[in-house]
Amino acid sequence: MFVTTKLWNNNHRPERVKPAFEASRQRLRLDYVDCYPVHTPFAFQPGDEQDPRDERGQVIYDPGVTLVETWQALECLVDEGQCKTIGLSNINLEKLREIVEAARIKPAVVEVESHPYLPEWDLLEYCQRHGIVLLAFAALGHGMEPRLLDHPVIIAIAQRVRKTPAQVLLAWAVQRGTAFLTTSVTPARIQENFELSTLPEDAMQEIRDGVATRIRFNIVVETGVPGFIPRGR
Ligand SMILES: NC(=O)c1ccc[n+]([C@@H]2O[C@H](COP(=O)([O-])OP(=O)(O)OC[C@H]3O[C@@H](n4cnc5c(N)ncnc54)[C@H](OP(=O)(O)O)[C@@H]3O)[C@@H](O)[C@H]2O)c1
Repeated sequence: MFVTTKLWNNNHRPERVKPAFEASRQRLRLDYVDCYPVHTPFAFQPGDEQDPRDERGQVIYDPGVTLVETWQALECLVDEGQCKTIGLSNINLEKLREIVEAARIKPAVVEVESHPYLPEWDLLEYCQRHGIVLLAFAALGHGMEPRLLDHPVIIAIAQRVRKTPAQVLLAWAVQRGTAFLTTSVTPARIQENFELSTLPEDAMQEIRDGVATRIRFNIVVETGVPGFIPRGR
């Protein structure tokens, strides 16, 4: 078991970090958690409102705190032994660099949307150089259109290696050195998603060169507001 919970956007002020963490830890009834990432680099107005909006429906951000200040408060949680590692999520390379350069305790994990339509090669290369795990969410493209699972390059490789398109996409994620997050409400698919095998090098290259579509499905990275996660049922 590896337990992760995250710091939400309305708790970026340093004095709010420990109480927020403690509340999560107690809800989980654990002595410590394995990883505590900051959910997004966007600080929302501090307070109890998770999605604070003004009268025009616009998100109320908090200009009174920097991500470096929030990060320093997370470092104190590691010092106190209540979480083993800390991380970031929905962050771009520029912002990540800023944190890595300022950090006393480096991020262990960076969780971002990533799949063949959004490979994030530069971010991955930087993470690997700094010993940071890139955790790819939406590894199957959130099941949204245009469906990665139906891409002709993925289907052709799946037929060739006698695996399903999902298994090809997940194996690609592992083989290029990322961890991934996927979910399914379908027991057979959950099982299928564990049964991965190594792709031949030419298939890896074909996905890199042959999938030219570039799409970000989840807009959370632009605003800090959670993107829509479609469910099939
Ligand atoms: N950091 C962030 O801001 C952020 C944002 C979004 C998500 N996430 C994390 O990422 C996780 C994964 O996101 P996601 O669930 O959208 O990932 P995903 O892997 O892109 O998509 C899952 C979809 O693929 C389908 N699926 C799963 N296995 C399949 C298979 N073997 N064959 C065919 N279809 C398959 C599922 O359908 P069925 O369920 O109908 O089987 C589901 O609709 C979330 O649970 C969340 O923890 C993080």
